[in-house]
Parts: sequence; structure tokens; C-alpha cells
Amino acid sequence: MNELDQAAIVAAARALEAGALVAFPTETVYGLGADAESPAAVARIYEAKGRPNDHPVIVHLAPGADLSYWASEIPAEAHALVAAFWPGPLTLILKRASHIPDAVSGGQDTVGLRCPSHPVAMALLSAFKGGKGGVAAPSANKFGNVSPTTAQHVRDEFDGDVGQGPGNGARIAAVLDGGSSQVGIESTILDLSRLATHGPVLLRPGHISAKQIADVIGQMPGLPDQSAPRASGTLESHYAPKAPVALIAGAAVVETLAALQARQRQVAVIHYSAIALGGAQAILPGDPVGYAYGLYAALRAMDQTGADLILVEAPPQGEAWLGVNDRLRRAAFGSAGTIEKFLQA
Ligand code: TXA
Ligand code: MG
Repeated sequence: MNELDQAAIVAAARALEAGALVAFPTETVYGLGADAESPAAVARIYEAKGRPNDHPVIVHLAPGADLSYWASEIPAEAHALVAAFWPGPLTLILKRASHIPDAVSGGQDTVGLRCPSHPVAMALLSAFKGGKGGVAAPSANKFGNVSPTTAQHVRDEFDGDVGQGPGNGARIAAVLDGGSSQVGIESTILDLSRLATHGPVLLRPGHISAKQIADVIGQMPGLPDQSAPRASGTLESHYAPKAPVALIAGAAVVETLAALQARQRQVAVIHYSAIALGGAQAILPGDPVGYAYGLYAALRAMDQTGADLILVEAPPQGEAWLGVNDRLRRAAFGSAGTIEKFLQA
């Protein structure tokens, strides 16, 4: 990091301390940050995103932060996972300490904590309140949209709302540019707040797998039940581009595309196998890590072609692909039947 970057990071930390919003890179996706201990600052995040204010946000901590300041109960499993995976793409849901504002937890009695590994995020969190603060940050996109993995994606989402300016409390003081997020999909979320009664529960799959977690705590995380903490990233419809998204098997891509084009439909395709296609397309790597890295940029790019439909070659199943398949399923939610509708029209 050069000196200019460090100066911009310190300025951003001061803006956060003053209650402003700052967008910053993490290794998963870009976050839209505010002082987690200021309900007024956290309210500005909801306003900027257009997000319902009963949805909890993750609190980002500097490396070495004191968990007991934020959480009232810290099981041994939490300490073991922190030692194994922080800084990194794992969010832990723990019982919230009583002085932590309701605003960050959407009124629930828990708090989501994570220490990101992106160097700019770590520098920002270390500069903010001398490394003792927490930065509440959801992904830096409008509610329901695809998460941003570059600074330009953030600017595209918030168009006129970036920079110093008069009035509008929901303006974003700065967007720190840290290049493309290395992981590309949001952190794994593990609920440890009901360990005694429900065991560890995987609320959102991500780069850190259930198996890796089990290797550390000696127990495979379960799937969410009815009473699991609510999480907006776990809404059925989320991470969605403007165009409908349809997932189809690789063997059916060429034929389906031809049939849709014969009906004058503009179709953009995201694929990973070597299929020869004409028209708008994005090819992603055939491994889950490389695929996740490129997924959101590909969804945005294909959406920008103005296509009527984004056709996605369904990735393989299997544990390593869980995070990718989870995001694609949510992106495609609500688009069921689109291919059939277009073919009948
Ligand atoms: O990788 C990430 O987690 C990114 C980067 C910026 O850190 N953040 C992110 O934030 O994806 P967001 O708000 O888009 O999704 C966070 C998810 C939401 O589904 C939210 O409901 C859940 O975490 N969450 C946060 N605190 C929670 C809590 N106390 N209980 C249950 N879910 C919680
Ligand atoms: Mg999000």
C-alpha cells in the first residue's frame, strides 16, 4: 500500500467516526460501512440501500479485536474458528452484548461478526477508533441487487450518491478502491448463538465450507430450521440482475439458445464448458473458486447488454460448489418459466 492509499484510508476512518458512510473492499465483496455503535449512522446504510431496517448487518472488526466487547457468550468453538479462519471470509453469529445497538442486529438478540482479510479493509478497521471500533457493513449494493466486487460496481449502484455534497444524509463519503474482491461471493455465515440447543447452523454457504468448519469444531454444521436467525442474504430472491436468469444443463444450452433467438429474444449466456456460441456471453473458469471470483462481474456485464434473459449453464453440484449454486438459485428465483414463456410467445 502506498502513502496516498494510507492517507485515503485514514480520511475514510475519520469520515466513519463522524457518522458518514464509506464503501470499502473486502476479500468477498465490497461493503457499505458505518460506525456500528452509532444508530444514526447505521440508519443511513438502510436509507442508502433501500433495505428494510429489521435486517441485521455484519459488524466488521480489526484483526485481534476483543470479541467479548461485542458478544455476551463466546463458546470455545467461536475461539477455535477465529483462530483458524480470521482474518477471512467467515461470519459468526453470537449472542449480542447488551450495549450493542439494536440497529445492527435488526432487533434480534444476536450480532454477526467478521474480520475481513483484504489489506485495505484491515487498514481501515485498524485506523477506525484506534482498531477498537466495529464497522457495520452489508454488501454495497441496492437491496436485492447483485453484490459489487469492484469499486466501479459500487459507483454504478449508487450513481449520484458518492462524494461530499450538500444535504442528503445517505450520501457515501468515499469509495475506497482495492481492486477486484478475491473471493467474489459473500462470507460463509455460521450461527453459534444457539449452540446448546441447535448446534452450529450454516446460514449462508461460502468460500469456507461446512467441511472445513467441521474439521475445526468436530461437528458438521446443520441446515437452518424455522427458528434460525433471519438473514436477508438468505431471502429466496436476492443477488438478482434486472434481466431474468435461467439455469439449464450444459447439454441443452446450444439448442435452447437457438430456439430463443429464433423467437427474436436477446439472450446473454454465462457458461463454463467449452461451448461455441454466438452473441453476448461470459465464460467462467470450471473450478468453484475461479467461478465464484468471476460470477458477479459476469452477471452485471451480461445484464448491461440489455438482454431479455441471462441463460446460465448450471454448474456442477457437490460441496465445493454450494456457495456458487446458492447465489445462482437466488438470482434465478422468480424467473421460473421464463424460457417456456418466451418460446410460446
Ligand atoms: O462477505 C460478506 O459477508 C459481505 C462483506 C461486505 O463483509 N457482507 C454481506 O453483508 O454480505 P449483507 O448484509 O449483504 O449480508 C449479511 C447477512 C445478511 O443475510 C444478514 O441478515 C446476516 O448476514 N446477518 C447479519 N447479522 C446477523 C445476525 N445477527 N443474525 C442473523 N443474520 C445476520
Ligand atoms: Mg447483500
